[in-house]
Amino acid sequence: MAEIVKKPIKITETVLRDAHQSLIATRMTTEQMLPIIDKMDKVGYHSVECWGGATFDASLRFLKEDPWERLRKLRDGFKNTKLQMLFRGQNILGYHQYADDVVEYFVQKSIANGIDIIRIFDCMNDLRNLQTAVNASKKEKGHSQVALSYTLGDAYTLEYWTEMAKKIEDMGADSICIKDMAGLLVPYKATELISAMKEVTSLPIQLHTHYTSGVASMTYLKAVEAGVDVIDTAMSPFSMGTSQPATEVMVETFRGTPYDTGYDQNLLAEIADYFRPMQEDALKTGLLNPKVMGVNIKTLLYQVPGGMLSNLVSQLKEQGAEDKYYDVLDEVPRVRKDLGEPPLVTPSSQIVGTQSVFNVLMGERYKMATAETKAVLRGEYGATVKPFNQEVQKKVIGDEQPITCRPADLIPPELDKLEAEMSQWKEQDEDVLSYALFPQVAVEFFKDREAKKSKIDPKAADTDNKAYPV
Ligand code: CO
Repeated sequence: MAEIVKKPIKITETVLRDAHQSLIATRMTTEQMLPIIDKMDKVGYHSVECWGGATFDASLRFLKEDPWERLRKLRDGFKNTKLQMLFRGQNILGYHQYADDVVEYFVQKSIANGIDIIRIFDCMNDLRNLQTAVNASKKEKGHSQVALSYTLGDAYTLEYWTEMAKKIEDMGADSICIKDMAGLLVPYKATELISAMKEVTSLPIQLHTHYTSGVASMTYLKAVEAGVDVIDTAMSPFSMGTSQPATEVMVETFRGTPYDTGYDQNLLAEIADYFRPMQEDALKTGLLNPKVMGVNIKTLLYQVPGGMLSNLVSQLKEQGAEDKYYDVLDEVPRVRKDLGEPPLVTPSSQIVGTQSVFNVLMGERYKMATAETKAVLRGEYGATVKPFNQEVQKKVIGDEQPITCRPADLIPPELDKLEAEMSQWKEQDEDVLSYALFPQVAVEFFKDREAKKSKIDPKAADTDNKAYPV
């Protein structure tokens, strides 16, 4: 009888990043995280995702916390576990493209402050937009993981994904992630996809999905059987719904099989006990909407991430046009096609969503185009898998010549200019990066930080000094 080859599945825990971003608008504070990280550090996770995505923005904007300080505190606490972040390629953690010097500096400082693994993705899957971050990560001895934004559409064949996997290996990445932000990857498709990718690359493959459409844990099961190396899960109180499958459930699923993680279920239960009151509080205050915890099958029908659906609802509400919801949902795939059929993930999801709202509300398609739609059609976000709709391109940018090079090749170095603009606020090197990403929010944060230091209540100070934010 052939010996059974053990291949324990590895797990990235997302409760400190994606899970609370997906369920409670990224409002978990550092203070809420710190008491439990000692226990989390003992689980034996492959990594803990704790930074990037919206955490940076929400820390500065809503929690009035320095995201860099959070990272350093987490690094202090996690003595044995790798820390992981999410990084939007040339957009870093922002919404437009930055010059290479800013991208390189951000990577350098992220690793210097404690990040081990950087998951880098691009909303167009244009690998040129990832190369600078991958190179910088290698230079700083970090693990660079290139994530492909998973999506459906004519262009996204098995051949497309395997070709991309080969290119990622060639560009020097350490691993590949399939990032299924909308929960579109169904179980048997996962078997096909992972098997095909495993045939063309020897890089480890990680799968990231969301429970939104209800299939995620089955998808993980099939992906693991097909040879995937790492899966992303969240501790049960912040799992499922628009978040990831529950860590404890996946651990139990593989117990006693060749994929057994060996994690201690009692330890996981203690960690879950810590997070459960936080979930209950969030439900009470309304921060956690029970709606996002169920199965949303529309995400499969319309192939858009759950977060994008709720954004559309709130945009339409603001305009008093909620009755146009289904017209907008029908318009989304058309706009996506016009713009070269990109995956829908930050920032392309916002760009396609907002333009769809405009097209429906104006009563004429592209009567008004957003600045971002124009930028996409000028090639400023990179190359798309399919060509743009030329008629639409003509209507939106006229006779302007779109660019075809890597967009950041046209962006001159920005770091010196940014340093000069914010020098009065600088208390640490990293401040310039906070400013680069969210200039207004960062300045408000810096003012608040200064006010706190001199023990002046910024709100009280505001009555005397109009420079303070309200
Ligand atoms: Co995610």
